[in-house]
Amino acid sequence: MSEQPAGTFASLWVATSASTGYAALNADLDVDVAVIGGGIAGLTAALALKRAGQTVAVLEAARVGTGVTGNTTGKVTSLHRLAYTELAGRHGVEAARLYGEANEAAIQHVAGTVAEEGIDCGFRRVSNYTYAESEEALARVREEAALAGRLGLPASFTTEVPLPFAVKGAVRFDGQAQIHALRYVQGLARAVDGDRSFVFEDSPATGLRDGVPAVVDAEHGSIRAREIIVATNMPIEDKGIFDERCYLHRSYIVAARTALPPLDSTFLSVDEPMRSILTIDLDGASYVLAGGEGHPASERTDSAERYRRLSGFARDRLGVDEIVYRWSTQDAMPADGLPYVGLMSTDARHIHVITGLRKWGLTNGTAAALVLRDTLCGRPNPWAAVFDSTRASESTPAAAAPDAAPAVTEDATETAPASSGAVPIRSDLVRGAGSVVDVDGATTAVYVGPTGNVSAVSAVCTHLGCTVEFNPADVTWDCPCHGSRFSTDGTVIQGPATRNLAAGALPADLG
Ligand SMILES: Cc1cc2nc3c(=O)[nH]c(=O)nc-3n(C[C@H](O)[C@H](O)[C@H](O)COP(=O)(O)OP(=O)(O)OC[C@H]3O[C@@H](n4cnc5c(N)ncnc54)[C@H](O)[C@@H]3O)c2cc1C
Ligand code: FES
Repeated sequence: MSEQPAGTFASLWVATSASTGYAALNADLDVDVAVIGGGIAGLTAALALKRAGQTVAVLEAARVGTGVTGNTTGKVTSLHRLAYTELAGRHGVEAARLYGEANEAAIQHVAGTVAEEGIDCGFRRVSNYTYAESEEALARVREEAALAGRLGLPASFTTEVPLPFAVKGAVRFDGQAQIHALRYVQGLARAVDGDRSFVFEDSPATGLRDGVPAVVDAEHGSIRAREIIVATNMPIEDKGIFDERCYLHRSYIVAARTALPPLDSTFLSVDEPMRSILTIDLDGASYVLAGGEGHPASERTDSAERYRRLSGFARDRLGVDEIVYRWSTQDAMPADGLPYVGLMSTDARHIHVITGLRKWGLTNGTAAALVLRDTLCGRPNPWAAVFDSTRASESTPAAAAPDAAPAVTEDATETAPASSGAVPIRSDLVRGAGSVVDVDGATTAVYVGPTGNVSAVSAVCTHLGCTVEFNPADVTWDCPCHGSRFSTDGTVIQGPATRNLAAGALPADLG
């Protein structure tokens, strides 16, 4: 049995933010634009539209910013590893240039919003590096630096890389930034709420109706609007088949206290295993974040081992002792490398979508929001065509059919029950672990807490019916098909599922 990895399972950002308390939607409402999802994409769009004179209502299923945005690394940058070489090869140099221009504009938009709204989110200008340790990676960063420079981006190749370990060289982008993303979006929410615009929490949208007006339904009220923006990361009511054109990719982050002063830079490796590094001074303490261990969310894996590998990297390469927080989250990766922004489908009239932010949504999500602000205000936008959500694009290889067996790759291992001191309470149920068992013919996900408290929910994912699996390192039920995640009481943590797991019956000998 594997021991739990070091650190409390919580994101540094969530652990260091006050919680918000916006009311739930409990009546019908009319606004110009309804926005579903209170992450960086939805809230940036809502505030930009409000500033453009529209009334808006944001409907958030949980608490604003606690989705992917509250679990991010925090880099606000247009340097996305080797994105320009990849995009120019796939879509041409002009598309790569527009992608870079959109992301640079997003950095300036975040900087401007922080200043104008007075958002205390530790916004800090830094340089961002993609670094190479091998000769092969070195050639690739040289190529990326040269291309990005030609595209007008603030790029240079350097062998001077301010890391505490030796590397061969890097592409460096200047004028980049980092933020406490949760405090930033909480600041956006404060600016949105008021003057006939609204933020609602604990209000999952349950249905959408296109038309005039377009309508968003929630449990205790409906919002009638001229236009709807679906910014739920993976779109709900997926009419555009985005779960075939995107796949969810999960990564892990550990945060450790450090005595070292913060670096004026953020870093990402080209060589595998990919590692992401960021330092931050927060409320009088210094932290270093190490991220990586990414894999398709549909891949069966040993999360505890992934956290251990990251902790080992933080100790060996960054000189930290104690890991204080660890967390994981996942983002939608577009099949062709470009975000999807625009109408939900070719048939849609008033329902728009933002998805496929490719793990760079602090800028891609911000740029996407600006595209939709312009579209909905009838203005031209230079990036709308390249991000067009209705473009023809291939399906992702990782978009598993609902009944497909989850992919198992070389480094994947069977998940093991969690705690080493676990006590079996039945041959198939162990304290501190979850198991999928048959209860009177129903496939049931049973979790036994460390103190012996038992919860039982249906193991049938409410998205398209795959069977969820227990993730012992994060203590969640994860769906191997498209990556939905649920807490042990069945609450949706992350879609595409929008409904909680149904209540389940306890096994008779535990009931
Ligand atoms: C490990 C990791 C590290 C990353 N680091 C970086 C980084 O350093 N820089 C960067 O630019 N990007 C980074 N990203 C990507 C970035 O964090 C995301 O792209 C971005 O936060 C996504 O924002 P979002 O608004 O689309 O989604 P979210 O923040 O998830 O917002 C969507 C919201 O919709 C809500 N919702 C869902 N269903 C419903 C419903 N039915 N009704 C109402 N609300 C609903 C959810 O509760 C959620 O709050 C990282 C991603 C990962 C996985
Ligand atoms: S069946 Fe799609 S996420 Fe579970």
